[in-house]
Amino acid sequence: MQTHPLAQTVADALVPRVAGTVRRGEPLGQYTSFRVGGPADVAVEAESEQDLTAVADLCGGMPVAVIGRGSNLLVSDDGFRGVALRLGRGFRTQQVGESTIVFGAAVSLPAAARLTGRIGLAGFEFAAEIPGSFGGGVQMNAGAHGRSISDVLVWADLLDLGTGRLERVPARDLSYGYRRSSVGERVVVRGEVRLEPDEVRVVQTRIAELLRWRRTHQPGGLSAGSVFKNPDGDSAGRLVDGAGGKGLRCGGAVVSDVHANFIVVEQGSTASDVWRLIWLVRDLVVERMGVQLEPEVRFLGDFPQVERHEL
Ligand code: EPU
Repeated sequence: MQTHPLAQTVADALVPRVAGTVRRGEPLGQYTSFRVGGPADVAVEAESEQDLTAVADLCGGMPVAVIGRGSNLLVSDDGFRGVALRLGRGFRTQQVGESTIVFGAAVSLPAAARLTGRIGLAGFEFAAEIPGSFGGGVQMNAGAHGRSISDVLVWADLLDLGTGRLERVPARDLSYGYRRSSVGERVVVRGEVRLEPDEVRVVQTRIAELLRWRRTHQPGGLSAGSVFKNPDGDSAGRLVDGAGGKGLRCGGAVVSDVHANFIVVEQGSTASDVWRLIWLVRDLVVERMGVQLEPEVRFLGDFPQVERHEL
C-alpha cells in the first residue's frame, strides 16, 4: 500500500514540535468503537494547543482528520493516507463555574454527565448514554432523548488547521440542527455549557434511569451507535426493522436483533464487512419502505465501490 508521499517528511518535522506522540503507520481500529480499520500514515496525539498549532503549521500538504473517541467512525481496511489527529489527556479538562462548565474536547460525554451529577447541575444527563467525546459531540451535535449538545452549549473554541487560528464561536453561530453543525473541519478545543442547578440525588437518578434505558434498548458489543440518522418524523431503527433487516449479515458485521439501527461487529470482521452491510441495509429500506436513509456514521479512507443491491 502506497503511503502519502509527504508522510515521512511531515512526521519528521512534527516530532520535535509536538509534546504528545507522533507515530507512522499507526493502526486506527484501536481508537474506534468498531475496532476495525487500517493504519494512518501519520497519527498525532496532541497534548496542548501548541501541538495543534504545530499540526496546522506542518501538515498543510496532507489531509488531516480529527478522531475523537471514534465512537461514530468507520476507518477503511486500507487505512488513511493522511494525518489522524487525536486529542490527548491535556484536553481532558473541566472548569466548573456557578452554573457553567468548560469542558476540554477530549472529555468523554459520559464522564462529563457524571460530573454534572456529582455537582448538581441539570440538563446534561442525556450525555451519559453517548460514548463519544465532548469535542465530537459539539462537532456533530450529538444527542439522545430529545436533547442535544446545542441545547446547552454557550460557545466553543475552534481551531482552523488551515490558518492556525483559534476562535471562540458562540453556539448560535454554529448553524446547529439535528446531528449537524457548521464546525466542519475545524478542531473543537473546548466549549462551555450552561446548566440548571438541581439536587445531586435528582440529577444522578435521571442519569441512572437513562443508562438503564440504554442497557435494555440498545445492544452491547462493538458498534458505532446509530448507523443512520433518523429521517424527519420517523426512526431509522423502525424502518430497518420493518424492512426485515434484523440479523442481516456481511461477514462478521451483523444488524443487531436488539435495535435495528445498530451494526454490531464480531471478532474477525473487517471494515469492508461493515461498509457493505450499511449499503445493503440502505437498499433494503429503499426497496421495502420507500425511504432513503442517510448514514450517521462517518467514514475515513477509501472504501470499495458497492453496486446497488438487487433485492
Ligand atoms: N424501533 C423498532 N425496531 C428497532 C428499533 C427501534 O421498531 O429495532 C422503534 C422503537 O420501538 C421506537 C422507535 O423505533 O418506537 C424509536 O426507537 P428508539 O427509541 O430506540 O430511538 P431511536 O430514534 O432509534 C435515537 C437516537 C439514539 C438515542 C435514542 C434515545 C438517532 C439516529 N438515534 O434512537 O442515538 O440513543 O434516540 O434517545 O437519532 C446515536 O445517535 O448513535 C444514538 C444511539
